[in-house]
Amino acid sequence: MNQAFYLRRIWSFSKALDLALVDEEIERGLQIALGERHGERVAYIALSLGSVLKLSENDKMLLMVAGLLHDIGAVGSFRRYHGDHRLMVKHCLAGEKLVERFPSGEGLAPIVRLHHEAPDASRGALGVAAGQVPLLAKILAFADRVDVHLARRYSSRQEREALVHWIQEGDGKLLYPEIVPAFLALIGKESFWLDLEQSDLFQICLGHLFQEWAIPVREDLETGFTDDLVTTFADLIDQKSEFTFRHSASVSEAAERLARALGWQEQALYEMRVAGLLHDLGKLAMPKKILDKPGPLNAEEIDVIRTHTYYTYRLLTEAGFPQQVVEWAAYHHERLDGQGYPFALAGEEISQGARLMAIADMFAALTEERPYHQARTAGEALDIIRKGIGTSVDGTLVALAARVLG
Ligand SMILES: [Fe+2]
Ligand SMILES: [Fe+2]
Ligand SMILES: [Fe+2]
Repeated sequence: MNQAFYLRRIWSFSKALDLALVDEEIERGLQIALGERHGERVAYIALSLGSVLKLSENDKMLLMVAGLLHDIGAVGSFRRYHGDHRLMVKHCLAGEKLVERFPSGEGLAPIVRLHHEAPDASRGALGVAAGQVPLLAKILAFADRVDVHLARRYSSRQEREALVHWIQEGDGKLLYPEIVPAFLALIGKESFWLDLEQSDLFQICLGHLFQEWAIPVREDLETGFTDDLVTTFADLIDQKSEFTFRHSASVSEAAERLARALGWQEQALYEMRVAGLLHDLGKLAMPKKILDKPGPLNAEEIDVIRTHTYYTYRLLTEAGFPQQVVEWAAYHHERLDGQGYPFALAGEEISQGARLMAIADMFAALTEERPYHQARTAGEALDIIRKGIGTSVDGTLVALAARVLG
């Protein structure tokens, strides 16, 4: 896979990650809004430090990817953080395991593992002595601390000066001293601060890395890296709620079985599997307290939940997935009568793949236990789905589902 395209894919998934973590951090009491891009900012700061330090292209690429993904181990665990040191450790170790699967995993793993270390080992998550922490991990730890210190937002002149003061007056226990001169050189540039404020920070990073500002386009879906990324995120989505621990996998399996029964070819079946695994990607952005609420949701909460397919659409589009995969994944709450969401598509606007995904999703959800209902049998689930024939679902496909899944 082309490196710039690989970064594009990692970047859009890291946005899903940022969306998921914002929810958890708000529960921790942090005052931040949806749309904060911690991963992207840390990646930019780390990459810029790499440039000042004249690191190799390969090292800068590692810093960029590690920056985007460094908190990947935190999904589902920050909720219980409350200053608990063990969770600090846990997300570093969980993150290490997750990024090991990705390309250059052996380079990424130690950076992610050690991103909360400190020169005073007693202040670090794992307490690793400074001599044992590789330079790239020190850079990432530095970038992460700085972004947290900046509270991830626009910084006024006074705040920039305060940052310089904070760094110069630091007692050397928290920030690795060998990175300090490079960082001071960096923040002396007006462009550093202006870059950080831009909405296309990712493109700016691509410019620094490849002297190429355009977001690379690619249409086909390849196995290998995509599989690792997709299954990793399907797990993260399912972990987000206590009640959906296998939902994405179940939807994917059901959708594939239906498509196979329709005689679809292997490549299309593979794409359907991927679409099924990612159909609820936008759920990463949904607050846990709504997802796990025991009992019916109020109107306001329903409005929030209904946004999840919109985010699925946006994130998969940004990740450069083929258009039909995006649609199969993101249209699963559309209805034939045009009363679905978020696009209110009707009839022929909803392709066979999307119709099939809607049935697979309902079937999986109904046969799973949820806070508000017991798991139903396949027969009961199909009876409920049948009630939507003529309004929401395609009768021919429901009949197929009764044969294949019943
Ligand atoms: Fe972290
Ligand atoms: Fe959904
Ligand atoms: Fe779903």
